[in-house]
Amino acid sequence: MKVWYGFMGVVALMILAGVGVQALGLQTLFGVVVPYAAMGIFLVGVVVKILSWARSPVPFHIPTTCGQQRSLSWIRSSYLDSPHTKFGVLCRMGLEVLCFRSLFGNTKMAVRPGPKVVHGPTQWLWAGAMVFHWCMLVVLLRHLRFFAEPVPAFVGAITSLDGFFQLGLPELYLTTAGLLGGLLYLLARRIWVPQVRYISLPADYFSLFLLIGIATTGILLRHFIKIDLESVKGFALGLVAFVPVLPVQAHYLFYVHVFLVSILLAYFPFSKLMHFAGVFLSPTRNLANDSRARRHVNPWNAPVKTHTYAEYEDEFRERMVGAGLPVEKT
Ligand code: HEM
Repeated sequence: MKVWYGFMGVVALMILAGVGVQALGLQTLFGVVVPYAAMGIFLVGVVVKILSWARSPVPFHIPTTCGQQRSLSWIRSSYLDSPHTKFGVLCRMGLEVLCFRSLFGNTKMAVRPGPKVVHGPTQWLWAGAMVFHWCMLVVLLRHLRFFAEPVPAFVGAITSLDGFFQLGLPELYLTTAGLLGGLLYLLARRIWVPQVRYISLPADYFSLFLLIGIATTGILLRHFIKIDLESVKGFALGLVAFVPVLPVQAHYLFYVHVFLVSILLAYFPFSKLMHFAGVFLSPTRNLANDSRARRHVNPWNAPVKTHTYAEYEDEFRERMVGAGLPVEKT
């Protein structure tokens, strides 16, 4: 049922944009007003969210739960899991953001005859996530050819590398296939693995179907409808320059594509997709584990009036000596 909520939500959005453009002629609404509103919600939402996270108190360096911290020279420390320098933190963060290192250590549980519960490593989720995220990044970078004039040289280089195998005409980009393939794998895993299905929410399916909808309409535009790219470029440049020009006679699926992207942008700050920013703000990842080498004092500790033993003895020395109690200073 939860799958259907996500699926029907995206289908409803697609019908809304299709009918709005095709039957009601609301091109300006779906091509200009909604994208600008969505971009506004995205920018404000992301900034507010990041500021609210940045304001959370982090009084101490929080060591990760795994990896030996550096202490005595003869105890081997785990430099990447538990770095004690800023450079080590940078390496840990780099590997996490670029290679999803923690996901690589994923495990799965199964019940074997006996019955016996066994745990073992599994890298499928890591592989699916890597394929999806990297392909999505390349697809977005390729889209820069619509939004920038002149088109940056690296966009041309990525595009020709991506179409290297020249499959079909227009050629199929490897990352287009990777993006859709990765998304379908992540969806299938949620539906077919009982443990994952149990913890999945409609919001999890909605994000996946939304991205699948964007990728599918994009593929239809490129390979089947063959939209006029000149007018798309004029439209995209107009949006960026705040002088919007609607693409001439664009197919309604183009508006559906743009509308789904707008929904993604507006939904982003309120969804789990914010992990793209959250990963940088996670204290267990972005702090060095040097609590054995350095004393960390809570910066907002209230000043406490102390009374040391030396001061105590100074105050009561005579009476202590009189009562026959031992003292440090005579
Ligand atoms: C989250 C953002 C977006 C994603 C993930 C996305 C995804 C895709 C994908 C997977 C394709 C298939 C071909 C390819 O890989 O290049 C595509 C094509 C296309 N997209 Fe997007 N898109 C996004 C945003 C946009 C925006 C904002 C526009 C508006 C200008 C746009 C316009 C197009 C057009 C015109 C095509 C057909 C390209 C061609 O014929 O070569 N896309 N999109």
